[in-house]
Parts: sequence; structure tokens; C-alpha cells
Amino acid sequence: MNIKDKYISFFESKGHKHIPSAPIIPENDPTSLFNTAGMQPLVPYLTGKEHPLGKRLVDYQKCVRTNDLDEVGDTTHHTFFEMLGNWSLGDYYKEESIKMSFEFLTKELNIPLERLAVTVFAGDQFIPRDEESVGIWKSLGISEERIVYLSDNFWIAGNSGPCGSDTEIFYWRSDKEIPQVFDPEDDTWVEIWNNVFMGYFKDEEGNITELPKKNVDTGMGLERIVAVLEGVNDNYESSIWRPIIKKIEEITGLSYSDDENKKAIRIIADHIRAIVMISGDNANVTPSNTDQGYILRRLIRRTIRYAKKLNINIESDWDKELALIVIDEYSKYYQELEANKDKILTVLEQEKIKFNRTLEKGLKEFEKVVNAMDGDTINKDNAFRLYDTFGFPIELTCELASEKSLKVDVDGFKEKFKEHQEKSKMGADKKFAGGLSGHGEIETKYHTATHLLNAALKVILNKDVHQKGSNITPERMRFDFSFDRKMTDEEKKATEDLVNKWINEGLEVSCLTMSKQEAIDSGAECMFIEKYPDTVTVYKIGDVSLEICGGPHVTNTKEIGTFKIKKEEASSAGVRRIKAIIE
Ligand code: ALA
Repeated sequence: MNIKDKYISFFESKGHKHIPSAPIIPENDPTSLFNTAGMQPLVPYLTGKEHPLGKRLVDYQKCVRTNDLDEVGDTTHHTFFEMLGNWSLGDYYKEESIKMSFEFLTKELNIPLERLAVTVFAGDQFIPRDEESVGIWKSLGISEERIVYLSDNFWIAGNSGPCGSDTEIFYWRSDKEIPQVFDPEDDTWVEIWNNVFMGYFKDEEGNITELPKKNVDTGMGLERIVAVLEGVNDNYESSIWRPIIKKIEEITGLSYSDDENKKAIRIIADHIRAIVMISGDNANVTPSNTDQGYILRRLIRRTIRYAKKLNINIESDWDKELALIVIDEYSKYYQELEANKDKILTVLEQEKIKFNRTLEKGLKEFEKVVNAMDGDTINKDNAFRLYDTFGFPIELTCELASEKSLKVDVDGFKEKFKEHQEKSKMGADKKFAGGLSGHGEIETKYHTATHLLNAALKVILNKDVHQKGSNITPERMRFDFSFDRKMTDEEKKATEDLVNKWINEGLEVSCLTMSKQEAIDSGAECMFIEKYPDTVTVYKIGDVSLEICGGPHVTNTKEIGTFKIKKEEASSAGVRRIKAIIE
């Protein structure tokens, strides 16, 4: 049994209920783009709400960390990773938590006691030194020299929320003799598990209050524990990465053991996995110029650039082949990957086509800029041109510059970017832009047409028709909806006519802000209610459509043009697909 399965069944045997991984985007927290820890989707329950499955939970959660994207390429950083976690919601506390962790490590994973060491909270003016945890660790056989008090053993996600002191478990990752005395500064001791005793809540102003119930939140990074147990010093040498790396070796004819190739292979492996997990999530992220979509775009473009470095023929199906390996490896645990397979492959293909068209030219342009410049900083105009004309994310320009020991005027770039955004009336604040990518004029028209089509199908077919997905390119729109048979020609014609009637009526499109509950109560359409924050934007088109959506949209339906259905076909069981254009 692998560690993930072992973990779940161990905690199930201790009365925990297995909860599925939440979508990769936090539901209630517009301040973070992705879930970065297993506890994030559980915040409402850690602050007092009752969980329908009880007080003991266990899961593996999809997480994405993007703050150190540039570090990816070394032996330990990953964009996507899985976090194993178990929780007590006002049930057990320090003693049981520590004992269960210890039992799992020493009995289930057979880690010898001598390889373990721990840190505990040293105390501050609010919370006393954690003598209790020390007593428990000692009772389990951890010697005094292997326990260190640290003042930063306090855990919180971001700046506010449920929090508390923690005890971190370390593992001696080496064949060298294990020192008796634990030194947390020595990198051979790697942290493998964090048990947080979540007894407090910190508000936005920094005030700390006690929570009504004391919880336990634990987190263990899967990639690390697997690498550690398999005895490899490079995470990418563990069994988790083997199939992906093997495929990259096959495609490139290069070997991972060759130091020269390591960085690029790691980046491609890491990014392709993150791309699949992000675009295959039900939160329906597609490449765009903002937020999650922008991260996805950066990941794809960076992968393509590194693939080029390894002389992969970009036009070939290398990316598809790699994505299929990831889907294959992970769909047992995340069934959505199989269901969203087509979408994942389409995202990759379209973004590749878009970027590949300009990549070569952009790289040449970059060289030109470098040859013509004085000093060591690429100015804002050139950085912006590389972005705007050649699709180079600013981070790519920075990366290329740093390879030549040059700098980029990033602040200047950001200023220009903002000016440009304002000019093209692009909202800078589209945190929840939904599944519709692109913010160009034509995409915006398609975006509004999508809402009209959704509304028209409800009138012509029946009111239970719901959107299942959508995809927009500058050339066409695609709309998936729940319906169990082929549409007749008459129905297609009637739908098309109704959309065009609404377009010709010149209906006003307005954007309203309301609470999620109000939106639901007013019957607003939406695809994944759980992914939206508590306050949402709702787009209203005349009296014909109301949908939760981040926009952008045209201001009047007249701007759209003429709507034409080109095709209606089966998409999957119970789901039909319409392809349409506007002229
Ligand atoms: N939430 C804690 C962490 O991520 C367990 O370390």
C-alpha cells in the first residue's frame, strides 16, 4: 500500500472520516489564488461551524504554491503538491494527536525512533511554553536532547485566521551517524510533519482570541515523506516522479542522471503536473492574463521554453504525452482528471499554439533588445513590448535577463501594464473570472453571447438545462450543457433566433455585487457555487439572464454582432456541446 492510502486507512481506523480533496481554488478566501495547505478548505469548521462528517477528519488535499515558482528546478520545490492531513474539530488535542502521529510514523511507516526529533513552541507573552507536548514526546521515548523549543513554532495561514502553537517532527535523512543532540539548523534533519494545536484566532488587526473549541490541524507534504522514506536526496528521484521523468527522457533521448539536464527536466516535470492538476480541476481554470489563469499561462509558457532548451520538437505531441502520464498516475485519486481530460489537452494545445507563434520571434527580439541596450537594465517599454506583442510573461523576461546577468525595470513594466489595463477597460480585480479565458474585445463578445445562449437554451429546451463548461477562442465559442438528446434542427434555429433577437433588442448588461446567498436566492446561474467567495459579482442582461460571473462583458448586447450555431454534438454522457460563432 502506498503512503497516501496507508495514511487514510490509519486515521480511518482511529475514527476519522475521509473527506475528498477540495477544489484547488479556495472557496471562501479571495485573498489566496490557490489552496496552499490542507486546512484551508476547513477554515469554517476550524472556527466553529459543525462539519457534517463529524469531529475527526482525514484527507489528502491538492495544493499549489506559487510564491517560489522560480525556485522550482532544485531538488525540493514543487508548484503542485499533495498534503496529507488529519483534524480534530474540538475533539482530541495534544496527547492523542502526538500519539497517533508517532504511531503512524513508527508502526505504519516503520521509522526507527532514533531517526526522529521534534521542535515545540517556546512560548511568548500570550501563550506559555509547550511543556505539555514535551511531556508527551518524552513518554513516547523521544529523548530530551532530541526536543528543541523554538519561538517560531506558531502556525497560521497568511495573516489572519485560526492559528496556534505547533510541534514539528523531523527525520534524519542520511546514512551518516545520527547525532544524539538535535540541531534544527542542520539540513540533514528534515521536517516531515507539522501538528498545529489550533486554539486561537487572529483577526485582521492582529488581535488574538481563544477559539470556542480547540482543534488539531496536521500537515505532511507527500512528496517529501515519500522521498525521505525511499532514501533519495532529490525529491525528483522518488517513485512519485519516476513515470514523468522517464517519459521526458524518452521524448528527449536525454538522461536525468546527467547534471546538465537536471534543472530543465525537473521544471518540465513539475510544471506539467501542475498544469494538469490546475486545468483538470473542477474549478475550471483556463489560461488568461489574471490570477489563477495567469499562473497557468506562465506555467505552460515556461514549460515550452524549457522543452525548447532540451531540443524537444515543440510542434510534436510531447506535451500531450506527458499530460496523459500525469492523468494516468493521478486519476485514481482525483477522478475529475479523467472527466476533464479533453479540457486539459485543449488548454495545452491552444496555449501552445498561441505562444509558439511568437516565441521564436520574441526570443530574437529579446536578443536585439539586449544587443542594443546601454547599461544593465531592460527598460519598461521593451519589457512591455515583449509582453504585449510576443506574449512573454514579465517573469519570463526576468528569467532570460538573469541568465545574462541583466535586470528588468519590473516596476516600470507594472505601471505600463496598469495604464494599458485601464485603457482597455479591463478590470484589474477579476479574482473570480470564471472559466472563460481571454479579455480581448472579441472574447468579451463571446463571453456575453455565452450567457445569452445559456438563457436561450432554457427557454427553447427546458429550464433544467445547465452549463457544464465553456471555452472561448477569438475564433469561436464552445458551450457544454446538460441535455440528454440531440437537438432538432428546429430547436437549433429557434435558439439561434432567440439569441439574435436579444442581441438586436440592445439589452443592457449590468454588473451587480451581492452576497453569494442573495445571488443563489435570486436564481442566478453559476457552475460551481462552492468555488465562489462570499461576495460575488452577478451579470444581468436585460431581464433575460442573471449569472454569477467575473466578467468581462460588453455593456450592451448590440455590440455582439450576429450569433450563429455551427454545430451541436454529444460531449459526454448527458452533456451536449454547441459550437457557435459571431459575425
Ligand atoms: N497547516 C499546517 C501546515 O501546513 C499543518 O503546516
